[in-house]
Amino acid sequence: MNHNTNKNTVTIETNSSSMQAPSFQGTMGPDVIDLRSMPQNLGLYSFDPGLIGTATCSSKITFIDGEKGILLHRGYPIEELATHANFTETAYLLLYGELPTLEQYHVFKKDMNTHRLLNEQIRNFFNGFRRDAHPMAILCGTVSALSAFYHDGLNISQPEDRDLSARRLIAKTATIAAWAYKYSIGEPFIYPDEEMSFSENFLHMLFARPGNHYKVNPVLARAIDRILVLHADHEQNASTTTVRLVGSTGSNPYACISAGIAALWGPAHGGANEAALNMLKSIGTRDGIPAFLEKAKDRNSTVRLMGFGHRVYKNFDPRAKILQETCREVIAELGLERDPLLDLAMELEKVATHDEYFIKRGLYPNVDFYSGLILKALGIPENMFTVLFAVARTVGWVSQWKEMIEDPTARIVRPRQLYIGSNRRKFTPIHERG
Ligand code: ACO
Repeated sequence: MNHNTNKNTVTIETNSSSMQAPSFQGTMGPDVIDLRSMPQNLGLYSFDPGLIGTATCSSKITFIDGEKGILLHRGYPIEELATHANFTETAYLLLYGELPTLEQYHVFKKDMNTHRLLNEQIRNFFNGFRRDAHPMAILCGTVSALSAFYHDGLNISQPEDRDLSARRLIAKTATIAAWAYKYSIGEPFIYPDEEMSFSENFLHMLFARPGNHYKVNPVLARAIDRILVLHADHEQNASTTTVRLVGSTGSNPYACISAGIAALWGPAHGGANEAALNMLKSIGTRDGIPAFLEKAKDRNSTVRLMGFGHRVYKNFDPRAKILQETCREVIAELGLERDPLLDLAMELEKVATHDEYFIKRGLYPNVDFYSGLILKALGIPENMFTVLFAVARTVGWVSQWKEMIEDPTARIVRPRQLYIGSNRRKFTPIHERG
């Protein structure tokens, strides 16, 4: 990938030597200093656990300005995409860099819809899981297993193979996700419907039963679609970085996405919406809010206000703003204004956003605070929340994976460390140890 070298270079000096590090200028956002030659020139490594100050790649897909609350995909603001584009259109944009023409959209949609079906033998995988298995465990395992079924897209040096695998992953992850849910409640799997939109089909696979005539509510399908658009990509977050890292070793795309799903599972990442809802349940009623907030603010306690705060957004998360509105629409459509948990969430949001502690630290509701509430209102069980996030983020993961494979400067990710263990010492045979 091409980098624009900035005129500025940075001089790095030690007591005995120095080097000039070039800096690169992005289209937007801060410049980055190229430290790749530092180990060779100075015998030094940069120390950055958590990669807080490190750009690990260059990318044309997503831009975030956390201070200003800006999120752009391929240059388009998330607010416009969430309002005017559906998930399939957004997937096309992220994968190929441009919004599709009407014709391109129809061709892409038709092809994507044919990939929804799973090889019939994949059904057998589900029976190997306990009924009470977390659907993320089922998703992680079954997505990885897809590589054992779809051999024809595995030559990752071929652009057509990469594209085929990317499309399969986006389409089939949704079917696996819905079937994981059906399996957990002991209901028969509902086969995907090629005529429905991505979100309608997903709701249909979740809630239809043989013999009932499940009719998809368009307001609710739109709400799901919006959640999917808002979660489709988010630059170099923990799970995307994982996908790129695994991909850098040349692993097959199904293994890479499965690793991304595992990274997303954690409560500090994609598990936050499930954790936010559990937190609301533990608070119980409006009366419990002050005591809970005191605990969340106490530095000696491990309690955090789940669904608040973000590593990058130190202002309002722009996705949260859109979902706040969608959340209210869904609650009104379903007549859930009096649902005690939703009422509690709205009160908690009000109190916390006016509290000095959260204001001072730039802690605002993040996308997970509202997505959990919407999904609950739609009747989607809590253990499926992160699964839905994974269905959406698969689009970002495969786009970033493709970009990485196509980047001639990409190398296997192999960081170094600051060793703080014991110095070299002599081995003592076991019978001589005291
Ligand atoms: N509740 C209470 N205090 C918080 C919270 C919170 N949710 N988040 C951060 N803080 C406080 C920290 O204690 C710290 O306070 P201090 O300066 O007095 O020590 C300060 O704010 C800065 O916190 P950091 O941990 O340095 O922030 P970081 O950027 O590392 O963490 C994170 C971001 C992990 C998202 C954090 O805000 C958090 O745990 N939030 C709750 C979990 C959550 O909602 N995660 C979803 C993220 S969005 C996503 O994945 C789509």
